[in-house]
Amino acid sequence: MKYTLDWLTDPEVFAVNRIAAHSDHRIYANHLEADADNSSLIQNLNGTWKFAWAKNPSEWEQKFYEESDSTDNFDNIQVPGHMELQGYGKPQYVNTIYPWEGQEHLRPPFISEKDNPVGSYVRYFDLNDALKNKRVFISFQGVETAMYVWLNGEFIGYSEDSFTPSEFELTPYIREKDNKLAVAVFKRSSASWLEDQDFWRFSGIFRDVFLYAAPSAHVRDMRVISDYDGTNGIFSATLDIAGKCSVRSILTDENGTVISESNEKESVNWTIENSKPWSAEIPNLYTFTVILTDEDGNEIEVSRTKVGFRRFELKNGIMCLNGKRIIFKGINRHEFDAKTGRAITKEDMLFDIQFMKKNNINAVRTCHYPNNSFWYQLCDAYGIYLIDETNLETHGTWQKLGATDPSWNVPGSLPEWKEAVLDRAKSMYERDKNHASVLIWSCGNESYCGEGIAAMSEYFRSVDPTRLVHYEGVTRVPNHQYDSITDMESRMYAKPQEVEEYLKQNTGRQYISCEYMHAMGNSLGGLSLYTDLEDKYEAYQGGFIWDYIDQAIETKNDDGKTVLAYGGDFEDRPSDYGFCTNGVVYADRTYSPKVQEMKALYSNIRMSIQNGMLTVENRNLFADTNNLSFVVRLEKNGVVLKSDTFSLNVPAGESKTMKLTLHKIDSTGEYVYHVSAVTADQTLWADAGHEIAFAQEVFEVKDNQIPETTLQKPTIVYGDVIIGVHGENFSMMFDKKEGGISSLRYNGFEYITRTPKVSFWRAMTDNDTGASEPYNLAQWYSAGKFAKYKTVSWLEQEDALKITFTYQAACVPTFEFTVTYTAHFDGKLGVSVNYAGVSGMSDMPVLALDFKMKKQLCNFQYYGLGPDENYSDRCKGARLGLWKSTAKENLSGYLNPQECGNRTGVRTLSVHDDMQHGLTFQKASAPFEMSVLPYSAYELENAMHLDELPSVRYTWVRIAAKQMGVGGDDSWGAPVHEEYRIHADQPMKLEFVIMPLRS
Ligand code: GAL
Ligand code: MG
Repeated sequence: MKYTLDWLTDPEVFAVNRIAAHSDHRIYANHLEADADNSSLIQNLNGTWKFAWAKNPSEWEQKFYEESDSTDNFDNIQVPGHMELQGYGKPQYVNTIYPWEGQEHLRPPFISEKDNPVGSYVRYFDLNDALKNKRVFISFQGVETAMYVWLNGEFIGYSEDSFTPSEFELTPYIREKDNKLAVAVFKRSSASWLEDQDFWRFSGIFRDVFLYAAPSAHVRDMRVISDYDGTNGIFSATLDIAGKCSVRSILTDENGTVISESNEKESVNWTIENSKPWSAEIPNLYTFTVILTDEDGNEIEVSRTKVGFRRFELKNGIMCLNGKRIIFKGINRHEFDAKTGRAITKEDMLFDIQFMKKNNINAVRTCHYPNNSFWYQLCDAYGIYLIDETNLETHGTWQKLGATDPSWNVPGSLPEWKEAVLDRAKSMYERDKNHASVLIWSCGNESYCGEGIAAMSEYFRSVDPTRLVHYEGVTRVPNHQYDSITDMESRMYAKPQEVEEYLKQNTGRQYISCEYMHAMGNSLGGLSLYTDLEDKYEAYQGGFIWDYIDQAIETKNDDGKTVLAYGGDFEDRPSDYGFCTNGVVYADRTYSPKVQEMKALYSNIRMSIQNGMLTVENRNLFADTNNLSFVVRLEKNGVVLKSDTFSLNVPAGESKTMKLTLHKIDSTGEYVYHVSAVTADQTLWADAGHEIAFAQEVFEVKDNQIPETTLQKPTIVYGDVIIGVHGENFSMMFDKKEGGISSLRYNGFEYITRTPKVSFWRAMTDNDTGASEPYNLAQWYSAGKFAKYKTVSWLEQEDALKITFTYQAACVPTFEFTVTYTAHFDGKLGVSVNYAGVSGMSDMPVLALDFKMKKQLCNFQYYGLGPDENYSDRCKGARLGLWKSTAKENLSGYLNPQECGNRTGVRTLSVHDDMQHGLTFQKASAPFEMSVLPYSAYELENAMHLDELPSVRYTWVRIAAKQMGVGGDDSWGAPVHEEYRIHADQPMKLEFVIMPLRS
């Protein structure tokens, strides 16, 4: 057959000679191999390949596949991997627009002739013995976006669809030795119009490549349905077997015991009495094995797949699993790694699945393409529900600058695109159909709607009555012509009140947010406003956070330092810059502080303590709490007085209340009952002792006696410019010219570098920027930073000297504010910032006093809400305790430097150097918020990348009366919710006391 490059722009040609898609069951030569999961029938071709790169097809050396053509001048490349991350071409990050926007005026199905890099891949190989004299196939698990394959100079086939396998038969051309496999990968093809996902634009062979042999008899495909009726498993399998053989099918349980067997050739039907059902909570799996034997009973081939018995259905308009209303505590997951892009490893996937389980996530949407096959095995085994999404997004064809304009939308209802998108649906369905974890098929993302997507949805329904169909796009379309494409109302970034409005309508159609909580930068504020809906509305069935991992690429900056880069950093234009960094984990898989909140609000175990009574609510659908231990602690001022462990079995869906009896509380102080539910034993995904949920009750035992102290009055020096207060171990100086405290020494150690300043500014977060807060709140930037010092007054009292400085804010309307220092004669320094409230100003970001301290004073510990960064709208996962950190550690890894490191509910904060010089800041009237960072808010504001921040010279201690929340409904306009904003017309006071370090 002759190949032609015309296929690249023909939407009707997406596969040539590609074999029909099939289930991803494993094949082995015999049962011993199957038991060891080590198949001799498979020959892996991953590794170092020969490689040549051309800028476009006209510069491409087309004959490279010929046997006579030498690869002596070729480079080496790693397979799997992307070309762009191995030095060929550059990565480009764009969101909705197509990557060639503004470079060339193109419309579907045409592609650039100038900019279409071609990778010529060559691999020489000998055939493994076990594959000889059998039919041999090659499987490419993922190649972006189009490829031509040759073997020994012969054209083998062509395929598109980057995210499902492309397989070809090699039998007629393969030799035992010295095979030359040649693959030409084109970065752009008509398929590029269907793959406009919001991600880095890469190309290459980025998933596994392997050969497999089909013995004389071979299971080409199997369709297994493992339904569950509440007691029994109802099993059926349809086998597609090629070749002459006898068949024995068996079902074994987790101990390898045979439960059922059959010799049927085409279909198997069993009822498995009292089968153990599958769910994410208890992912019981069975193994289905098909053994093909010859006349003498010798094994020809053994095929295997895992089976989970479950029933997923709509009952009265509610999605139910095994009869129970399901709630998705979901997250969207792109396959990504900072070093290798979408060519992720098994280790990455293992990390990810364990992350999900450890942090109470029960569902993943494979945004926006089918994932690596191994991921589905993990989701079956660990217990994760999946929305499996077709590789389809055509965002740039219908949405322009935010406005809907589907004038040249594909696939739309265009006949020439229909088969291509149907093929994508089919390839996904056929590969993934046997996985218990897949509950929902998704037609793709953000592709508008029309006959093409309607056909996909009909296809899923016709082949699979055991699952539901998802597509969000139709819920955005004004006419309701295509409503029936989706089985559920699915929206993205609907605000909590909008979701509630929908739910109140009682449409009879269940609701999910396929995307919500846009976790870009410092975000995920207000998650509880969504999770609270779970109890209020039956039809609310959860949501999927956007998203799991930052898409940032490890590279070297101009100074040779290893950094994480985002869009635009590779001179990639057009670009959407930092919009690819929306993960709850950073691109190198370290946790961001957002995880703390998600984990708490996603937990199926909810606990509360009231007056020493603990209530444990088990919101699991199936699992009781027998696999958990409960650890109770009594703490006083953050110090554990006593702890105890007990077990408590709360059946799924029930609650229990019990009295905590730990200790007699007598002395004064702040006490905390802390209960934590932890894994009792080691699991697949966590060690014993891993926390699933916690609760606290905080209470105070008060003592009205005021301790009597006899004070020695310090020396007070009323200078013309400086007022000094000098006691036995301390000295303070207040500067009438500078307008503040200019010296604070304890035991001779100086703590003031410059007089502290009031600030109303926080470094704008990505969410702030998206909501135009820099514009709305701009006045607060100068209000504090450029305030004018006006007057000073002082008053000597019996036990203290009070000095008040008045400042004029640099904004319109302007206002006055004061800072009062109270030099207590015992050496303590009281601080009070007074803000009277002003009308006519926008909401206030923060009311804080910033201390610019020596950089050695970089260690801190605090008694407040922690351990991780938290904000007024993101503190449900934080707990009161005594925590430690350093200024450097406290700088979050948001790639665009922004407000970070805040703690709420702080009672005391101690900041010190390694020699234990330091200060303790103690709450006065009310707990405060604070951060300790190597940079000021203004320095953070200036930088666009972490590595742009200056070398560290100071430790910035910020003590705040209040800071507005961080928000998270989206990052392109959603403001922080009203209840977490600060209205400028309210009077506010920040009060605390400074003293020498108290440990
Ligand atoms: C959604 C889209 C995602 C991502 C997100 C913004 O509209 O489905 O792919 O672009 O917005 O980060
Ligand atoms: Mg999009």
